[in-house]
Amino acid sequence: MSFPVFLWTAACSLRISYICTKNIDLKDERTLDVIHVKSMQAVRVDDAGRLDVKHVPRPEPKDGQLLIRVAATALNRADLLQKRGVYPPPPGESEILGLEASGVIADIGPEVKGNWMLGSKVMALLGGGGYAEYVAVPEELIMPVPSHLDLHQAAALPEAWLTAYQLLHFIAKVKPNETVLIHAGASGVGTAAIQLVRLCRAIPVVTTGSPEKLKFAEQIGAAVGINYKEEDFSEKVLQFTEGKGADVILDCIGGSFWEKNICSLAMDGRWVLYGALGGKTADGDLFGKLLRKRGHLLCSLLRNRSLQYKAELVRSFTEQVLPHFQSTDPPLRPVIDSMFNMEDVEMAHQHMEANKNIGKIIIKIGTS
Ligand SMILES: NC(=O)c1ccc[n+]([C@@H]2O[C@H](COP(=O)([O-])OP(=O)(O)OC[C@H]3O[C@@H](n4cnc5c(N)ncnc54)[C@H](OP(=O)(O)O)[C@@H]3O)[C@@H](O)[C@H]2O)c1
Repeated sequence: MSFPVFLWTAACSLRISYICTKNIDLKDERTLDVIHVKSMQAVRVDDAGRLDVKHVPRPEPKDGQLLIRVAATALNRADLLQKRGVYPPPPGESEILGLEASGVIADIGPEVKGNWMLGSKVMALLGGGGYAEYVAVPEELIMPVPSHLDLHQAAALPEAWLTAYQLLHFIAKVKPNETVLIHAGASGVGTAAIQLVRLCRAIPVVTTGSPEKLKFAEQIGAAVGINYKEEDFSEKVLQFTEGKGADVILDCIGGSFWEKNICSLAMDGRWVLYGALGGKTADGDLFGKLLRKRGHLLCSLLRNRSLQYKAELVRSFTEQVLPHFQSTDPPLRPVIDSMFNMEDVEMAHQHMEANKNIGKIIIKIGTS
């Protein structure tokens, strides 16, 4: 960071903490805040395809947007694909990686309707741009940080928890006492899904690829854990459900699991495909087998949904789930695998690529 930029950043940090302690209304103060800082540090993909921290222009909040000074972001599988150039951001979204962030409100754009306060702690679902010191976000995609969580923990919530909530309640419409088979049970999305299935009094059954991950999944609520590398998960699911099968399958694996998934599915069951870690092709009698089960194959991607859809998801999650992070029964908690500094983001990517994480990998941004 150059010396003048450092001075501005330091001055703005002081300004934000002052406003926070004074609880001054944002709209009266915004022109006095960080709007003079025109550049920021962000992680960019270099020509060799590696991640590097660089100075880039700071985003300006547009109509209906807030500017967040980012304290932390978290990794998602989509970041690994975007880095390799095979998953570009939707049109209009930042080219910078990062689908979620936590931080404090640093500025407010025109036409914002909510009563937001400068310095408030928030977390947000992003179309991109989280690996940076500042990100501009539509106000509808911003949530308050539950009071029991710090900003690093909060960065673990938006993408994984909103995805799991969306798959269970908007797509599969899960009901109490149903059995939900969750693949990649120790992943960011998987660890959120286990807790959300328990919250709605349904029964989570998970697959993972190691005894350590299985043990962890069971500790946070999985009724049964199956090591898919050592056992036929469909046999175990049928055994557990006394031959009925799983009512819902949350499947981010796809290709390599398709046949066992259909064997595991209950009649009229809902198979929700939301990733393809095990490949995108299925060889064999997929449609015949699915038809005989009268199975519902439902596919979902969150990132390319409309702002209106995401806003409704965020609103529903804020009302229905966020209060449970404050309660003790049942205690919801973000699962954090590890934290890396912004400069070490390449190492963090390698950790995820090697399937080593249980829960979320956090990237600390700046000095927050
Ligand atoms: N559709 C959407 O809107 C949406 C949104 C968010 C995430 N996603 C998807 O959700 C999935 C999980 O994301 P995440 O960020 O939570 O992942 P994550 O924390 O990185 O965990 C992924 C885990 O999947 C397992 N896995 C990897 N390759 C596998 C394979 N070939 N067969 C079986 N298991 C495999 C590994 O665990 P084991 O050691 O247990 O094998 C790995 O640790 C990803 O596919 C991601 O793209 C989709």
